[in-house]
Amino acid sequence: MKIDILTIFPEMFDHVFSSSIISRAIKENKVVINIHNFRDFSTDPHHKVDDTPYGGGNGMVLTCQPIFDCVEHLKTEESIVILLTPDGIPYKQKIAYELSSKKHIILICGHYEGFDERIRTICDLELSIGDYILTGGELASMVITDSIVRLIPGVIETSSHQNDSFNNNLLDYPTYTKPRNFRGMEVPEVLLSGDHKKIEEYRKIESIKKTKEKRPDLLEK
Ligand code: ADE
Repeated sequence: MKIDILTIFPEMFDHVFSSSIISRAIKENKVVINIHNFRDFSTDPHHKVDDTPYGGGNGMVLTCQPIFDCVEHLKTEESIVILLTPDGIPYKQKIAYELSSKKHIILICGHYEGFDERIRTICDLELSIGDYILTGGELASMVITDSIVRLIPGVIETSSHQNDSFNNNLLDYPTYTKPRNFRGMEVPEVLLSGDHKKIEEYRKIESIKKTKEKRPDLLEK
């Protein structure tokens, strides 16, 4: 898989993909991640990427030309072009799974007060990571990249994400490690029993219980 990220703040990505699972996935050629400064594509003599909004209003708006040219430079028949925007569709684990099987993803990070509406015409999908406003799409693109890359076959063991929260609309069951007793808090007896059927049943029940308690909206689905 290849992920191309379009931003005017490439330095924001400097350390994000160079540690842990994502950096291993890059080293093992499971994914190629390229950060592109779309300012480099601006035909403006001063490399401007934004301008004032027609009709008046606050702030600057990202212009079409640098983003169109950058996307056209990168796009192939296998690409899916995604715009990060608070008015996009809410990003969910199901979408992460769908995107993890794509060959090429182009992520466009919006910034400033907004972007020219016509930029939407070159996008296949618009995603929001939540009902709050970030200063730009950069953090959203990092969140989406991280959640997709861990699902690429071979990046982590499939069994590790089979029980992830949100699979089957359930939160993950509680887990424990050593010691058995920490400050009086005991590990549930069943997990020490070695009885795999019982452990599976316990985890299923706990998973439903936790979802009912913390995210009843998931069960309604
Ligand atoms: N850009 C600004 N806020 C955002 C959000 N919540 N999701 C995606 N992109 C954004």
